[in-house]
Amino acid sequence: MEKPITIAVAGCGSRGLEAYASKALKYSDRMKIVAVSDTNPGRLARAKKMFGLNDDQCYDSAEAMLAKGRLAEVLFLCTPDRDHYKEAMTALALDYHLLLEKPISMYANECRDIERLALERRRQVVVCHVLRYTVFYQKLKEIIDSGAIGDVVSVQAIEAVGHWHQAHSFIRGNWRNAGLSSPMILQKCCHDMDILLWLTGKHCKRVSSFGSLKHFNAEHAPEGAPARCTDGCPAADTCPYNAVRFYMGRAERGWLGWPVNVLDPNPTVETIGKALREGPYGRCVYRCDNDVVDHQVVNLDLEDGVTVSFTMCGHTNYNNREIRIMGTRGEIRGDMEKKALEVLKFCGEQDQAEKEIVDITKFTTDFSGHMGGDVRMIDDLLDLITGEGDGTALSDITKSVESHLVALAAEKSRLNNGAVVEISEM
Ligand SMILES: NC(=O)c1ccc[n+]([C@@H]2O[C@H](COP(=O)([O-])OP(=O)(O)OC[C@H]3O[C@@H](n4cnc5c(N)ncnc54)[C@H](O)[C@@H]3O)[C@@H](O)[C@H]2O)c1
Repeated sequence: MEKPITIAVAGCGSRGLEAYASKALKYSDRMKIVAVSDTNPGRLARAKKMFGLNDDQCYDSAEAMLAKGRLAEVLFLCTPDRDHYKEAMTALALDYHLLLEKPISMYANECRDIERLALERRRQVVVCHVLRYTVFYQKLKEIIDSGAIGDVVSVQAIEAVGHWHQAHSFIRGNWRNAGLSSPMILQKCCHDMDILLWLTGKHCKRVSSFGSLKHFNAEHAPEGAPARCTDGCPAADTCPYNAVRFYMGRAERGWLGWPVNVLDPNPTVETIGKALREGPYGRCVYRCDNDVVDHQVVNLDLEDGVTVSFTMCGHTNYNNREIRIMGTRGEIRGDMEKKALEVLKFCGEQDQAEKEIVDITKFTTDFSGHMGGDVRMIDDLLDLITGEGDGTALSDITKSVESHLVALAAEKSRLNNGAVVEISEM
């Protein structure tokens, strides 16, 4: 039997440890964690215990681990957004293959630097565009490519972030402030830009965008609301964003996975209570240092006259993605939450269109982590490194850079009153 692929992990948080490295427990014949790093001692201790590592295999930062040279074949680079560039460049110079969390970087030139170095050193860089690996989008791509709806003319897509997810990650959490992380359209929606380009098979020529942070600011705080939900808020019973109800309610019901475990690596009713009283997740959503948008629309003008209209919105009940692909001979409507695609072929009478419902549950039962995308991406990466695949990554650095350029162009447009931005200028 082949030896398992050795992995070093930079950033043992939700993605690095819980979503990706933890797969080594299940697929021990395919991957082995040999070094881990995290600046948070609790996270590092959890990683050490999870893989039975010794002290020499645990580092208190990615920088300290990278300073030791190449310790494994692949680096899972899952540190905060603003650290990716420097660490990726160092790791590529050490000849690591990379599983690189998005965003690659918030600067177009840095995205290109990573691409250039990866190509120069012939290293694989798989960017974590997990949606590409879901059966939902793979089936959708298959149907489009089969020509079932003719040529794609226009696409309408929505990323419904979900009000609770908006509150957790983008108001109270790590991605609340573009200066500390990156703009919402990049950090959250580079996935959507990537999937839209991939599905249509077209390059993007230009974009325009509008959006703002409309609601989550002091102006909209309920009267008398204190800085923390733990401090006796008069609106506690009616506010949909009551942190005590959201996190403690889950902890008390025994749900200690994401997002509760973001508050503390060892979630219990006691540690979650302390985190709510003292940490960022107990803050009133109207009294945080957030500045990323809570809604944004983007128009894309693709090659061959194909258009896309995309909406990201935090003011939705569900955390979901919906899409409508309109072609010359039919249309497809997709709803991730419902795990279904509806394919309609035109026949001249709208009530008589040939209709097929593609039930995604018939093709997979694994809807864990990003609808099964996380695990399938890791599988694909391992195939790539062992040479079992076709030698190309579904989400390689070159394809991923384009999605970042489109997202950065959208942000540039939004900040310039919706002015059209040519991708060639980026
Ligand atoms: N692909 C996706 O769908 C997806 C989803 C969520 C997050 N992300 C991205 O993944 C990355 C990680 O996000 P997360 O949700 O795991 O965040 P997280 O906060 O749970 O994990 C990040 C970890 O990195 C650690 N860290 C910080 N500085 C470090 C350093 N210098 N060296 C080593 N460790 C360091 C932190 O202590 C933390 O444990 C982010 O860039 C984020 O945007 C991607």
